[in-house]
Amino acid sequence: MTGMHHMLVHFPLGFWALATLMILVGAFLSGRMAELSRAALLPVLVLSLLGALVAIITGFTVWPIAANLASPLARNHILMALWSLGIFTVITVLVWRAGDAAFYGARRWALVILALVGGLFFAAAGTLGGHLVGAPTMFSDVLGLMGWAVYTTFYSPLWVIAIMVIIGIALGAFGIISQRKTA
Ligand code: HEM
Repeated sequence: MTGMHHMLVHFPLGFWALATLMILVGAFLSGRMAELSRAALLPVLVLSLLGALVAIITGFTVWPIAANLASPLARNHILMALWSLGIFTVITVLVWRAGDAAFYGARRWALVILALVGGLFFAAAGTLGGHLVGAPTMFSDVLGLMGWAVYTTFYSPLWVIAIMVIIGIALGAFGIISQRKTA
């Protein structure tokens, strides 16, 4: 199954890269290219999620689970793969529910920020995959500049997680209040 994973990972990585580009074009440009990007984004996102699912399933068949859990590099790879899946699932739901409106007003910024964060995460997932097969890239140095040595387990202090949860709840409440005001 190793070869399967190596082959299938190109689907989520390619579709996520394309979706990120389409979101930037659809959000910041006008004209035919922007219209096409907005119209075709949802199918690209759906294909990216299907690609991610098969990449993740085959990923778990490459090494025994104990080996994955024993290696900080593999754990980081799995973490980034699952975070990327989470972020692009949220983007897919946003685009599916809001349609073209996802590209206008304040929603546009939610889409752009999620796409940029998702882009960073899937690039990290791919880079760590490269490390696992002995092919590190210069992107690891970029991660290093951001304070993450990829051979050590990614670690978020508990207070950072607590702040993230509070921000999430506050944004959810803000969304519900503004929805009620406009209704
Ligand atoms: C969206 C999900 C994923 C992406 C995009 C991804 C990406 C990659 C990439 C680019 C490589 C290097 C392959 C090559 O150079 O040909 C790789 C290797 C690897 N990935 Fe993933 N991966 C994903 C999910 C997972 C998951 C969930 C696991 C679970 C353990 C996993 C385990 C591995 C392992 C063990 C290797 C090294 C393979 C070897 O030793 O030959 N991957 N991955």
